[in-house]
Formats: sequence, structure tokens, C-alpha cells
Amino acid sequence: MPIQATEKIWHNGNLIPWEQATIHVMSHVIHYGSSVFEGIRCYKQPHGAAIFRLPEHMQRMLDSAKIYRMDLPFTLEELCAGVVDLVEANGVAPCYIRPIALRGYGEIGVDPTRSPIEVYIADFPWGKYIPGHGGADICVSSWNRMAPNTMPSLAKAASNYMNSQLIHMEAEVNGYQEGIALDVHGLVSEGSGENVFVVRNGVLFTPPLANSALSGITRDSVLTIARHLGLPVTEQPLPRELLYIADEVFFSGTAAEVQPIRSIDRITIADGKPGEITQKIADEFFAITSGLKPDRFGWLTPVKINVDEPVKA
Ligand SMILES: Cc1ncc(COP(=O)(O)O)c(C=O)c1O
Repeated sequence: MPIQATEKIWHNGNLIPWEQATIHVMSHVIHYGSSVFEGIRCYKQPHGAAIFRLPEHMQRMLDSAKIYRMDLPFTLEELCAGVVDLVEANGVAPCYIRPIALRGYGEIGVDPTRSPIEVYIADFPWGKYIPGHGGADICVSSWNRMAPNTMPSLAKAASNYMNSQLIHMEAEVNGYQEGIALDVHGLVSEGSGENVFVVRNGVLFTPPLANSALSGITRDSVLTIARHLGLPVTEQPLPRELLYIADEVFFSGTAAEVQPIRSIDRITIADGKPGEITQKIADEFFAITSGLKPDRFGWLTPVKINVDEPVKA
């Protein structure tokens, strides 16, 4: 889906016009992938709009930056306030929010420390990530996720998404909607942009972070919801073949939200319909994000926008 421009972008503490948020081709990030970023959703509510798990996302961006020795010149509170200011200024909801911290125009060469750090935040309308209803048809990728102690999986760094691109493109050219990658030991890791959950015999399983998976905020939300629903939950390494014989498999992610999976490598999961536990968790997730159920976990940051206004684009 082409990006729908909004009016403003937050840059280093100021709101600037969308079209002025540009960088030089010789910026460090262009050549060496030196950026960390976030993806956040702002949902429509019955009386306004709210950003889902804003502090958790911005803390993860600070953590990603710390791993790469990027000393961001903004506190968690300032970054969260920046997101709220931007979303309110653009007046678009629902929307997807993309904060990014990058190494800008300074010196050429691998050493990033003499290139300035720039922080931008953009927001724009964005719909469903994995199209269609009733479950996605996906594959296990021939590409592995990054090996431990190579590209850090806990950092949401742009460079990791070269691996994600290989996984996703391979899936698409072979007629699947998405790919799940194994880690270098052949154990289930994650999708190109999603965490993976498996249900078997009433137990909800997901791989631990040590299997080269991102610490997904939606993953954490699913685990929290499941525990509150009284479902047994286990974080443990999962062999590939468990995917095929699972009762239910689903993705979690900011973009994918809670996405049932219908088949993997053309093997139908159970009867091919979204499973009962997947449905329960999805219902709870969407009831909270849409404001139809109380925000009992404190996940929503309200924003002051008139959601009845047409999208300004
Ligand atoms: C590789 C990868 N794994 C998992 C996720 C899910 O993370 P979250 O739920 O925080 O969006 C994402 C999306 O950001 C991702 O890119």
C-alpha cells in the first residue's frame, strides 16, 4: 500500500512539514543500515483515539539504541510526548506510527560515532498487514533468523530487516502470504515481522527470545491476555514439525495484530479455521484496542483528535 502522506513529521523535537523530512544520500544510515525504529498503532475509540502501548514501544526503541551505542538526546517521556503531539497535530486515526532514530550525515566509513543522531516520528493511515479473512497461508522459510551474537535480535534495527526481506520475498514469490524463519539451530523463531504462537492440547506455546525472536509488544500482550483468561502458557523452544501438527497457529505483531494461520507449507492446520483459543485471544485484544472493553492493563494512551474528521492526506 503506498504511503499516504500526512501534514507533519516530528524531527528532533519540532513538527516540520512532511515533505521537508528528508536526509542526504551520504547519511551513514543509507550505507550501513544504522537506524533503530518502532511501529505503533493508534486505534479509534468510541470517543476519540488511543495509542497502543506507547511507553513500551518507546522504551524498546531506547533499548535498541543502547545496544547500538546510540545515545538518543531524548528521554522516554519526551519521545512519548512527541508521538502524542504528532498524532494530535496530524489528526488521523486510526494510524500507524513510525519513530526512527538514525545516524545522519557526518563521516563516511563504518565508524558511526561521528555521524549525528537524528530522531524522526511519522504517522499515517495503514490498514490490515496480512490481507484476507479466515487465516493466512504461510511457509517455513529457507532463510534462518540471525545467529546469536551476530545481529542482535532484541534490537529493532533496520539492518535486521534485510533478513526479514529475504524471508518475506521468498514467501511471496512462492505464493504464500508470509514466512516463518527458524533460528540457526533449526528451531522455530518468528515471522519476518511477527512473533509466532502455537496451541496444542489446550496449551499456548511461543518460542523464547533466545531463539532469535524480537521481544514483541503484541507477544507480551497475548501472553498477558492468555494468562488472564486462565490459559496455560509456555515459552519454550519449538521444533518445526510442531507447527504442522498444532491445533492452532497464529502470528502476533503491531502490523499483523492477532492473525490466525490456516496452512503452513500447504499443510492445513487442524480444520483450517481460526481456532477457539486464537479467537478468544483475538476477541479480547481487539475489544481492548477498540475501547469496547475497559483498558484493564493500562495499555492505551488517549489522544485528542476528532476521529470523525476525514483523513487529511
Ligand atoms: C521481526 C519481528 N518480530 C516480531 C514483531 C512483533 O513485534 P510487535 O508486537 O512489538 O510489533 C515484529 C514487529 O515489529 C518484527 O518486526
